[in-house]
Amino acid sequence: MIDLEKIDSNMAYKVKDIKLADEGRKQIELAEHEMPGMIELRKKYGKEQPLKGARITGSLHMTVQTAVLIETLTALGADVRWASCNIYSTQDEAAAAIATTGVPVFAWKGETLDEYWWCTAQALSFPGDKGPTIIVDDGGDATLMVTHGYEAEENPTILDRDAEAWDEQALIRKLKQILSYDKQKWHKAVKEIRGTSEETTTGVNRLYIRENDGSLLFPAINVNDSVTKSKFDNNYGNRESLIDGLKRATDIMIAGKSAVVCGFGGVGKGCAEGLNAFGAKVSVTETDPICALQASMEGFEVKTLEQLLPHGDIYVTATGNKEVITVEQMEKMKDKSIVCNIGHFDNEIQVEKLEERSDIKKRNIKPQVDEYIFPDGHSIILLAGGRLVNLGCATGHSSFVMSNSFANQVLAQIELWKNKHENKVYRLPKKLDEEVALAHLKHLNVSLTKLSQSQAEYIGVPQDGPHKPEHYRY
Ligand code: NAD
Ligand code: ADE
Repeated sequence: MIDLEKIDSNMAYKVKDIKLADEGRKQIELAEHEMPGMIELRKKYGKEQPLKGARITGSLHMTVQTAVLIETLTALGADVRWASCNIYSTQDEAAAAIATTGVPVFAWKGETLDEYWWCTAQALSFPGDKGPTIIVDDGGDATLMVTHGYEAEENPTILDRDAEAWDEQALIRKLKQILSYDKQKWHKAVKEIRGTSEETTTGVNRLYIRENDGSLLFPAINVNDSVTKSKFDNNYGNRESLIDGLKRATDIMIAGKSAVVCGFGGVGKGCAEGLNAFGAKVSVTETDPICALQASMEGFEVKTLEQLLPHGDIYVTATGNKEVITVEQMEKMKDKSIVCNIGHFDNEIQVEKLEERSDIKKRNIKPQVDEYIFPDGHSIILLAGGRLVNLGCATGHSSFVMSNSFANQVLAQIELWKNKHENKVYRLPKKLDEEVALAHLKHLNVSLTKLSQSQAEYIGVPQDGPHKPEHYRY
């Protein structure tokens, strides 16, 4: 049993079962073969140790691929602590393998919300009363804990509000606890934080909101919008891992089914394509006219959710928005409709409201698969409690695509550690984006055509890259 009241920066780790370490190690070795970007960065920077002296806190799904990221950061000299950014996404064998290397990991599959914030606080607490100097964030929860904790040290009454979401209530409980015995923890930490690099769209949205209202406490690098991240992980990653999650959870035959994808951004495009490739009839809901037009040009019908409720068999939310599927809408779905979310947070589907309705009965089918039976007898099958289905019901994206995302993370961490920045949100330069892509080409046996000097001049780019003008889109 852990004492959730106490943050202990000297605790070595907290994982489900340390005996899973050997199993995790074998999977990590297999993943390394598919993560050439990580191996290339170790080779390129291993000697130089550009992260020496850095204390890194990671708040990012503790998977096998993340284990390879962690070992790349340590190979470059960093002192690392880690927590997952989701209560269901940890691969316990990966967490155990990392814990045995001496990196303090606080993560296990199936944390409660109070345990989740304890784990995040543990990852943010280095021995000697220190915080991190840089953060790897996915969704912004580590940044939120530091920032909200800092704000509460200035004005404790902000923690007296009645938070609606269970997740926020748990964060408030944890921050109140910490504040009761340390009134300066987050101020001390912020003084030394050189920045955060953010993995995902939702976290990046949070950062821009803070940049715009002036409440960003440290610099940030938007990793998500590197081309080799969002156009790959969000799209090609989800194209495969959504199907993986659906299959492992339900064994459903996708061919012939009516699938509804809410949101046709980077992730929605990948989801729709994956479902279509398996033979589903795909419909899309969108609020953005350009994305709606794109979906239409791909041959997907675009309708409102209300219009689609009588037909859908599988529903996937991929918007990064809240209350995209309401309880009232689930009430109108066909019997045994599968409802899941692949966006970062669990509020895209109204799960808390579903749970609070005493006339709706819940039946657990297996871990992360629940049936909700409505008063009229029909039911829906909810996956991963409305949390991201690819990580809750499967093991997330494949190693190869994560190698691209994480190569950007490593480059962003080096940039934050080596150079001083203002409290703004930055992007990595296009040249580095190309370097990430280059590191992965050999693995796919790609032969590039080289621009001649006169061709480079003709289109107005340097011969050695960036190979397209900045305004070109991908
Ligand atoms: P995006 O901004 O590119 O796309 C979201 C789309 O949803 C937009 O086109 C927007 O117009 C649309 N939308 C917003 N509200 C809507 C509503 N109420 N109904 C219908 N459509 C609506 O974002 P993205 O990069 O596609 O990311 C989507 C979510 O997935 C984010 O939360 C992101 O953090 C997360 N994500 C998850 C994974 C994963 O592995 N599960 C990977 C990458 C990103
Ligand atoms: N996000 C999506 N897939 C992931 C994975 N396999 N590891 C870490 N983060 C992820």
